[in-house]
Amino acid sequence: MSERNAEHGGEYAALIAAARTARENAHAPYSNFRVGAAVRAKSGRVFTGCNVENATYGLTMCAERVAIFKAISEGERGFDAIAVVADTDALTPPCGSCRQLIWEFCGDAEVVLANLAGKVERHHMAALFPKPFDASFL
Ligand code: THU
Repeated sequence: MSERNAEHGGEYAALIAAARTARENAHAPYSNFRVGAAVRAKSGRVFTGCNVENATYGLTMCAERVAIFKAISEGERGFDAIAVVADTDALTPPCGSCRQLIWEFCGDAEVVLANLAGKVERHHMAALFPKPFDASFL
């Protein structure tokens, strides 16, 4: 499903706002591409992250993974939604590595993409990440 206006961000407005605030802490001096994320646990707790770049480039960590790792390291398990905010007209989707991680910890969660202008899209992970490799193969 894909929705295209801020009104549809409605039930996710708080999650989007948290991701937007987290984005302000982005450490992105190399790309200048600032991203914020917020993952919502089924308990109701929200964990946020921003992208953290490194001079080696390759050690850069995306906002989504920072948010998920924070939640996991705090003992949280089970998530139903993750919001991603960037300043792009075409809304920024999670990269492939993040999709693998989101699938591992959040399963078929709702992925809410938003920009600073209030444009919002909602997607399900199963659509963004078809035929995943996961623990069912091990
Ligand atoms: N980035 C994220 O944090 N999340 C995404 O969904 C896309 C990309 C970051 C990584 C890097 O710091 C910058 O954006 C440019 O790729």
